[in-house]
Amino acid sequence: MSSRRNLLLSRRDLLRGAGAAVLVGPVAGSLSACADDTPPSESFVHGVASGDPLPDSVILWTRVTTDGAGPVDVVWEVADDPAMSKRVASGSTTTDAERDFTVKVDVSGLAAGRTYYYRFRALGATSPIGRTRTAPSGSTSRLRFGVASCASYAHGYFHGYRALSEQRDLDAVIHLGDYIYEYGSSDYGDVRAYEPPHEIVTLADYRTRHAQYKRDADLQEVHRQHVFINVWDDHEIANDGYADGAESHTPGVEGSWADRKAAAQRAYREWMPIREQADGRIYRKLAFGDLVDLVMLDTRYQARTKQAVGLTGAPPAADPKRSLLGDEQAAWLEDQLKTSTAKWKLLGQQVMVGQLLIEKGTKLVNGDQWHGYPESRERLLTFFRDSGVKDIVVLTGDIHSSWAHDLVFDPNDPTEYDPATGRGSVAVEIVTPGITSPGVPEAFAGLVDGARPFNRHIQWLELTKRGFVVLDVTPERLQGSWYHLPDVVEAAPTAPAFAAALSVKAGEKRLVPDAAAAPSRDDAPVAAP
Ligand SMILES: [Fe+2]
Repeated sequence: MSSRRNLLLSRRDLLRGAGAAVLVGPVAGSLSACADDTPPSESFVHGVASGDPLPDSVILWTRVTTDGAGPVDVVWEVADDPAMSKRVASGSTTTDAERDFTVKVDVSGLAAGRTYYYRFRALGATSPIGRTRTAPSGSTSRLRFGVASCASYAHGYFHGYRALSEQRDLDAVIHLGDYIYEYGSSDYGDVRAYEPPHEIVTLADYRTRHAQYKRDADLQEVHRQHVFINVWDDHEIANDGYADGAESHTPGVEGSWADRKAAAQRAYREWMPIREQADGRIYRKLAFGDLVDLVMLDTRYQARTKQAVGLTGAPPAADPKRSLLGDEQAAWLEDQLKTSTAKWKLLGQQVMVGQLLIEKGTKLVNGDQWHGYPESRERLLTFFRDSGVKDIVVLTGDIHSSWAHDLVFDPNDPTEYDPATGRGSVAVEIVTPGITSPGVPEAFAGLVDGARPFNRHIQWLELTKRGFVVLDVTPERLQGSWYHLPDVVEAAPTAPAFAAALSVKAGEKRLVPDAAAAPSRDDAPVAAP
């Protein structure tokens, strides 16, 4: 490894942890519909997936495995039942090498708040059957979401995805990024080797890496059972990325940043079940009836300026030229929040908003997080405080550890904030741990624990374990439950253990511990067979 890599790893070890779509509506396919008796085959080795649910439509995804170079005809069908006997929509499309033989269909005309089953057929073979779900519309009494991030393939097995796949009653899985990692084998984790073995840079590299991830059985299963809502973080391109570069990108040695970014984002659009927007942006809003508006943000590659400080040092001085969201996205976010009529406003985004200061001679901050962009953080928290918009919950990934925060400008100012009552808090934040990416070393975890007096807004944290969060949302309260895995190094599945649950009541702005996670829904739809 290069010295640059060693530096990168020591720093990371401390605290750092989508060609054009072929879109076809429901049509009577000119090709024959899927035969019920055709077994899943080697023509669909990357599984099936769905994403970005609307009340009447959802994205369906697959990839056709072929040795041929020419276009491939693909039939898709959607049914009400897992046996695929009650077909409600079907159609056909084509894919080809230009989009790496991936298939993306935006199926419309579906019913709101409903579970469907789907499959594809191509080259005489039938895909596995997937399960998906549209967003509800109107009055909605309860929603449940899985929340995940940070799946370093090299650090182990995706038992967390398997566990989420078995949680049958989720309305969707919200994925906050680092869905893939760009490193070469043994650069960051050595449990599983990467394809290709080197750090990925080119379009072919990114496609190969996405293909490797999509061949993972646990990742396939969670996609097969749940509709996903994805955003990227840095590692979908390169470590500590920003709009015009990345900490780990070396122009010249690794080509131009513009070429690498375009390649990575093209592969992402091809391989992820994300609804594509005309200009390539991925920030967007998804509505879940009158209960939740989910605003997915791109704090990473849309407009982020370069980090001003690294892991150590005081937060940089505010500079109007620096930004995490960019003016356009920030104004869009504020507009979404101001005009939302949903009970809860969820922000799905990448990096931590809550501060972490360690008084030990010098302050310590993570310059990659919102604290490293004081002008952006100030604008966000000021909006939370002054806009009159209530019931905002920030969902965060990136940091490979579990945190529950009241959000406050300065948690150390007792005139501003009282952690016992939540006075002065402007919103709350729920941070999900990594699926496999490692948390912080024990020694540093102890340092953070020792710094709790300087971080009074932290209502709960766990710094070392992998896992995920389940959100349970009703009009009265929103609960986040953390689940941790005993091990991700062994291939044999391990069951997640309940770690903690905290909730925020409607109209309040503080997280309070609960004795237990809310029970699963007893009317969970039947799993995809
Ligand atoms: Fe990560």
